[in-house]
Amino acid sequence: MEPIDAPVQAPGGTVEVHSYLGPSDERSLADDVLDGLTRPLKELPPKHFYDARGSELFDAICELPEYYQTRTERLILETHADDIVARTGAVELVELGSGSATKTRVLLDAMAAAGTLRRYIPVDVSATTVHAVAELFCDEYDGLSVYGVVGDFERHLSHLPEPVGPRLVPFLGGTIGNFPPGSRRRFLRGLGKMLGPGGHLLLGTDLVKDPHVLEAAYDDSAGVTAQFNLNVLHVVNRELGANFDVDAFEHVAFFDREREWIEMRLRATEPQQVRVEALDLDVAFTAREELRTEISAKFTPDGLGADLAAAGLELVEFYTDPDELFAVSLARVR
Ligand code: SAH
Ligand code: TRP
Repeated sequence: MEPIDAPVQAPGGTVEVHSYLGPSDERSLADDVLDGLTRPLKELPPKHFYDARGSELFDAICELPEYYQTRTERLILETHADDIVARTGAVELVELGSGSATKTRVLLDAMAAAGTLRRYIPVDVSATTVHAVAELFCDEYDGLSVYGVVGDFERHLSHLPEPVGPRLVPFLGGTIGNFPPGSRRRFLRGLGKMLGPGGHLLLGTDLVKDPHVLEAAYDDSAGVTAQFNLNVLHVVNRELGANFDVDAFEHVAFFDREREWIEMRLRATEPQQVRVEALDLDVAFTAREELRTEISAKFTPDGLGADLAAAGLELVEFYTDPDELFAVSLARVR
């Protein structure tokens, strides 16, 4: 389906938003629910967290004292944005899972200051955030073209326009950690193909650290992360006519020391029989049965280098903060 929204001439530059999500993507939720809830260990993929409310809750997570990732990644970008722009000569950004793109401004500002900024291409499954960011950035950055893509970065990257010059692909927020290790390498390899001539990937990853610090970041004292996690049940209730009793689930987050990832789950506090009308599906949860909703891998510099190498990429620069909480890696095709 292509494009839903016509280009609009705005004072600062041009905005267009192309949407590749539609009825077929209610299908994707339906397929994921059918597949995930009938497995021996129940599971749902994380992209379904991000409806309008989920995206708002995620923004609230980014402001939490326990969630050091966002402010640390911003600090790293602020420290090194000029260097990143100088090394890459980037004229356009293709941002994967852009969300509300608050940290992206640091890169856009550095490109504007260097006089190279031409185009911004945010890609996200959340239609509300892509539209909001597209309008906002087009107004704020003089002469910027914004080409928004509402789509799934695992399925719709073939629809991106050709590069207009050296391309930089920011994939921030540690979202790469939400892929299991094998899919992560496959996905990174695919990204190599869309970088274009002289293109670079800018990859934000959370680093392995004290498990207590990690666990607090996914189980904050204000309970925002719990709300966010539970929101996926509201999404399934609304979109697929399911009747999850959301109050009878609790948020679980723990660091798996062996696999070096945070695992997020929802635990049924009592036995529950769930009907998913749109799928004509009945699913039973036993008391304390858990549904896995996300993994968030934590990296070591060596592990990251190995992943990049296995994906045919090479590290150009590894930027981190003084406490080595988070890393931003600049990479290109080997
Ligand atoms: N880049 C922002 C947001 C990170 S949260 C930051 O660093 O703060 C992850 C973002 O990726 C959300 O906006 C979510 O909607 C988006 N997302 C998750 N899975 C996606 C997928 N499969 N395709 C496209 N976007 C996805
Ligand atoms: N990509 C983010 C991360 O792994 C997403 C995230 C943060 C998240 N907190 C969460 C996902 C809580 C689910 C629940 O850090």
